[in-house]
Formats: sequence, C-alpha cells, structure tokens
Amino acid sequence: MANSIEKEIGRRRTFAIISHPDAGKTTLTEKFLLYGGAINTAGSVKGKANTKHAVSDWMEIEKERGISVTSSVLQFEYNDYCINILDTPGHEDFSEDTYRTLMAADCAVMVIDASKGVEAQTIKLFKVCVMRHIPIFTFINKMDREAKDTFELLDNIEKVLGIDTCPVNWPIGCGKEFKGVYERNSREILGFEAVSTGGSKEAKETVVSIDDGQAEQMIGEDFYENLMEEIELLDGASQPLDMEKVQKGELSPVFFGSALTNFGVQPFLEHFLKMTTAPLPRISKGTEIAPSGNDFSAFVFKIQANMNKNHRDRIAFMRICSGKFEANMEVKHVQSKKKMRLSQPQQIMAQERKIVDEAYAGDIIGVFDPGIFSIGDTVCMPKDDFEYEGIPTFAPEHFARVIQLDSMKRKQFVKGVEQIAQEGAIQIFQEHQAGFAEIIVGVVGTLQFDVLKYRLENEYNCEIRLEPLPYQAIRWIKDVKTDMGKLKGVAEVKKVRDMRGNPLLLFKNEWGIQFVLDRNDGLELVEFSKE
Ligand code: G4P
Repeated sequence: MANSIEKEIGRRRTFAIISHPDAGKTTLTEKFLLYGGAINTAGSVKGKANTKHAVSDWMEIEKERGISVTSSVLQFEYNDYCINILDTPGHEDFSEDTYRTLMAADCAVMVIDASKGVEAQTIKLFKVCVMRHIPIFTFINKMDREAKDTFELLDNIEKVLGIDTCPVNWPIGCGKEFKGVYERNSREILGFEAVSTGGSKEAKETVVSIDDGQAEQMIGEDFYENLMEEIELLDGASQPLDMEKVQKGELSPVFFGSALTNFGVQPFLEHFLKMTTAPLPRISKGTEIAPSGNDFSAFVFKIQANMNKNHRDRIAFMRICSGKFEANMEVKHVQSKKKMRLSQPQQIMAQERKIVDEAYAGDIIGVFDPGIFSIGDTVCMPKDDFEYEGIPTFAPEHFARVIQLDSMKRKQFVKGVEQIAQEGAIQIFQEHQAGFAEIIVGVVGTLQFDVLKYRLENEYNCEIRLEPLPYQAIRWIKDVKTDMGKLKGVAEVKKVRDMRGNPLLLFKNEWGIQFVLDRNDGLELVEFSKE
C-alpha cells in the first residue's frame, strides 16, 4: 500500500509554463497533450473568438474576449509519468493568480519567442520563480520563423534575467532555412520536416549522427560548416550542464524548436522529464514535510468564484504536498481547526472537469469551498498539525477608486468587494482616516478591474464606476504604529490602510519611494505584505 503511494508520487511532475503573450505557451501545452495522447488534434485547447473555447475559459468575460483570465491545471500521462501542467493566463492583463500558481509548481518552463528574446511579462514571472529557487527550463520557440542570432538570444537571457544558460540542443538555421537541431549530448542532428497540417500530428524527425557522412548532405555544406564552428565555440564557452545548479534555479537548460510544427517538442519533453524530480518536500513550521511517508496534506493557492454561475460556487484549488487524497476522507482545515470533508473534488483532465476519487502529492485538486478557505491555508489529516508557509501578497501595480452608483445597495456592495478581495482577485485599501465610503482597489493586471466591475454587476447587482488613480507603486510601512500624519515629503503620496488596518503608501513612481525615505529618518518600507 505504502509502496504504491510512493510509486504514484514518484511518477508525478508538476510544472508551470511561463511566457510573454504570443510566445507560444498555449501551442506548446497543446503539443504536450498531443504527445501524451490526451487530445487527438491540436487547436482544441485554445479557442480564440468564434472558435472552440479553451478548457480554462470558465468565466463569461473570458468567453467574450476569447482570452484566458484564470489559470487552469491540466493533467495527462506520458509514458510512465503523470504530468500536471499549471497554465497561466497568457494575456497581458494577467493577475495575481498567475504569481500564485507559481507557488504550486515544482519547476517552470519558460517559452521565449526566438525573434523577440526575453519580454516584459517573462521578466515578472521569472522573478517569482527565482524567489522560490525552482528549476527553470527554457524553450526557445518559433525557430521556423526568422530568429535572432542564437548566441545573442542566450546572452539576452543571461543579461536580462541574470541566470546562466546551457543549451542542450542547438538550432541549425531558422525561418525558411530551418534545418533542425543538433543534440549536444548524443551528437545527433534531428532534421526538421515542415508538416503541412499545421502540426496537428506528431512530428517525424530524421535522426543522423553528426559524424555520419549523411549529416552534411542532409543540412547542406554551408550549414554544416557553420554548425561545426558554432559547436566548437559553444563547447569552449558554455557552462557544463550542472544539475545541482539547475535544481537551485541558477542554470537554465535551453532547448530550441517550433511548437507550431511540433518540431523539438518531444525531445524537449523527454529531456525535461529526465532532468526534473518528483515532488519535493514543502516547509511546514520550519520543518520539511516529505511527499511520501506522510499522510495527506495540501495548501490552497487559488480560489475561483462562480465557475458555474447557476450554482454560485467557489472552488478552492489545492496543491497536494504529501500522501494520498481520497474522496470523502475527513480532513482538518488548519486555520479554523475545523474537521471537514472535501466535497466535489475535481481535476481538469485535458478537456473536461472530472470528479476524482484519489490524488497524490504533486497533484492539484479543486474542491467546493463553502466560504472557509483563504489563499495560503493548509488542509491535513486531523491528527497532524501542518501549516505550510503562506503565499506572499504581491504588490499591485494599478490602482482605482471604486465609486458605487446606487447608494441603496451599500450592503451588497461591501459584501461583494470584500468577497472578491478574499478570493485574492483584488486588494482593497481604505483612504487613511476615511471610512469604507472611499475604497481604493489595487490589482496586478488591469483586466482585474473589468472582472471586478463585471462581477459586482452580475453577481451582486451593484453598478460601480472605476476612477483610475495615477499610482504605480505600493509599499507597506514596516512599523505599523508609525503616525502617517507626521510623515514628511508626502504631498504626492497617498496614505492608505489595507483590510487588516496596516498602513501603506501609494507612489506615483519608484523615484517617489526614495524621496520619502530620504526625508524620514528610520522609516522602513517593504514590498510584500507578510499576511
Ligand atoms: P501564448 O499562449 O503564449 O499567448 O501563444 P500561442 O500559443 O497562442 O501562440 C501565439 C501565436 O503564435 C499563434 O498564432 C500561434 O499559432 C503562433 N505560434 C506558436 N508557436 C509557433 C511556432 O513555433 N512557429 C510559428 N511560426 N508560430 C507559432 P496566431 O496567429 O496568433 O493564432 P492562431 O490563429 O494560429 O491560433
């Protein structure tokens, strides 16, 4: 019994895919599912306007815009592995959920567009991965299009993200002249064959050793010569593939390919699965809790409201940290000390939500939330007393004043705003020395403003107007007893309090932070709230 649990946990891999919108994250995810046999045709995961909708398009607003606002989890089998992919919103207006999802992953795959290099959103998501010291694997996509010079791309990743790189394979040509990739370890060339179906079928790859006379014939004399030169340069200059550094997130193995045409996807998946580990221990009260050998425990990393509008349900997404979950088992919600049964546990299997009877450490389950869960909460067996480390509150970057249009609906308004904030979709602040009359909302991505407006109107029957505020940075005042009235140099700064009454300052730009610090001796400002 214990052995079978260990075996199940050992074959699990749980990772997030991060990228800037349009780099090809959805296409790559889809190809993984295709290779795993979870879907038969590519093009069925993501649906843009007027086409089939993506698996994760739960909310109406997503359907209307044809984008994915929420993050979803996909599970599929590949060879003997059970893979959990944590998908993150691909749109520019991503939210705090995207950050939180990274808390549930054991490693990340970073997709980069070969013609663009590292882009803004990748940098933000990368910072969260670095904070967690998780391994980061790079897939440089769209090699079938014109690409930047390969050495330049690697240099760009190293300089902008501050992580060392080690190419596991190396591209030969790009765009119309894309010939394939050279696998450094096996010294083989995987020849690229364009597939006319847009990549809906698995790719066929011709494999030839670089030392075989056929290799030069296959890619052409010029490309062959160039490749030999590049390999020499690379072998002399690049870092060795030090797996210890990879595990710490200090060195990123790099792969090249073209997700659209399937090229390089399977080799990437195979390398990736070999290089990654089964779920790692998580910290509870300063102690490591091993995934095997302990009973079920999990933490909540995301709360999703109204996935089914008719039922007005709330789903709490949990990452299982240890042991085996069985439907209807009695568990303890640590924060409230209440015993409960997790009802309607579900998983997203490629294209459908299904009720699960069992799940293991590394898996993500969504359970019905009767309104007791908060982000970061721990659930474990009644006999245990685990408490996993909380999830930081990420500093919002956009702010607006919320104006309620119908003052008669005060109660619904307050309830709605508070509930949505509790789910973690928005952060709310009150003007210093003002009542609840003046609410300021802070979000990580501006789409959350639309989500707030939409949900208040549709779920709470409250019309609101949002007045954008010109602030871009927020800092918590470390000493909560600080008298905000006595701060100097704050003419341009807004003083607010969060829902727990903690004092904060809103700044128009990063420069303003230093300005205030320079004028107030002993003032300490922090970027993350400790909960
Ligand atoms: P995202 O999730 O990171 O936002 O990117 P997504 O996979 O949706 O890809 C963005 C666009 O880039 C899509 O084209 C997709 O077909 C294309 N793409 C992805 N991978 C590759 C690749 O390897 N090579 C080439 N040439 N294109 C690629 P679109 O026209 O915006 O959408 P669609 O109509 O094809 O769905």
